[in-house]
Amino acid sequence: MRSREVHLVRRPQGGAPHPDDVTIETVEVEAGAGQVLVRNTVMSVEPYMRGRMSEGASYVEPYQLGAPMEGHATGVVEWSDVPDVPVGSVVVHQFGWREYAALTPDELEVVDVDGLKPTDHLGALGQTGLTAWVGMNVIARVQPGDTVFVSSAAGGVGAIAGQLAKVKGCTTIGSCGSPDKVEAVVKSFGFDTAFDYHDGRVRDLLRDAVERVGRPGLDVYFDNVGAEHLEAAIREMNEQGRIALCGAIAVYNATEPVPGPRNLLLMIWRRLRMEGFIVGDHDDVRPQFLAEMTELVRRGEVTSPETYVGHGIDEAFSGFLTLLEGRAVVGKALVSLQD
Ligand SMILES: NC(=O)c1ccc[n+]([C@@H]2O[C@H](COP(=O)([O-])OP(=O)(O)OC[C@H]3O[C@@H](n4cnc5c(N)ncnc54)[C@H](OP(=O)(O)O)[C@@H]3O)[C@@H](O)[C@H]2O)c1
Repeated sequence: MRSREVHLVRRPQGGAPHPDDVTIETVEVEAGAGQVLVRNTVMSVEPYMRGRMSEGASYVEPYQLGAPMEGHATGVVEWSDVPDVPVGSVVVHQFGWREYAALTPDELEVVDVDGLKPTDHLGALGQTGLTAWVGMNVIARVQPGDTVFVSSAAGGVGAIAGQLAKVKGCTTIGSCGSPDKVEAVVKSFGFDTAFDYHDGRVRDLLRDAVERVGRPGLDVYFDNVGAEHLEAAIREMNEQGRIALCGAIAVYNATEPVPGPRNLLLMIWRRLRMEGFIVGDHDDVRPQFLAEMTELVRRGEVTSPETYVGHGIDEAFSGFLTLLEGRAVVGKALVSLQD
């Protein structure tokens, strides 16, 4: 089968990725004994892929030069030599950035689409949802009545994290990058209040938000952004507060070391706990996560927001750049690979 795929041919030069960092190659994909041929339908683009484009220390291996990039995708089995994975099965796997993939059963998961969209398995029921669930439940140990602040609250992880806190009976505050996103965060994801971080200093905007919800401070901060947001959140934490460090998108393109929060002394005075986590370390809670989240999504208590940032493999990389710039992307950023 002729398939087109996105290859990394150059590591980003001096910060932001550029379209010249990749090429689209046409290859022949054949599935053989013990394999299935999957036609990819939708692929996920995510900030961590920026890290994998560069060489050097990260929590995942860098992408290889001259080879296809990788990432989560949904697909449909078009040919099968695996009895448990018949033709027509809807699957999720890690071989995105290409139109077709020949896979063995251990490289894919057949997913339940009864009352669910296949793309829910990239969003609320996929790594994105698991990241939000682990950050809230395992790392921040969120409790009913907590006041919870989530940054990048209109993003894939942030929108789910905020909804999970709300389901748990928390007061929720979100930050994001445009008036439209503020509206989505409050109206679609049920946050009690939200602010656009471009409207002033984050510390002032967050202080105003805490006052608006009538709470003394924050019990939990779910950090997707780092930098100024993190320092502002530490300043607003209540005693015994918990900070889950999930991501730091504000610094991913930095070419120089970035100064840390200047107010870490407050961590001592207020007995705060700040913990970073990597979702891949928490596969043990996946069954519990899936059981809970599937019900929440089926009952409509958690929505799995998504924005298509590209259509077709030709638009996959520009869609990825759109995600990194944040323009008009609400929820999980996806690229459709269907004709
Ligand atoms: N620890 C883990 O295991 C794990 C797993 C998955 C993801 N993550 C991390 O979790 C975070 C959220 O992931 P996601 O996939 O849901 O991505 P996301 O939040 O949808 O990321 C894209 C959004 O980040 C925001 N952004 C970009 N530059 C920013 C800046 N300088 N300051 C503030 N916001 C900025 C933009 O929204 P605005 O318009 O609102 O600025 C953009 O739409 C990322 O940092 C990601 O790396 C961690």
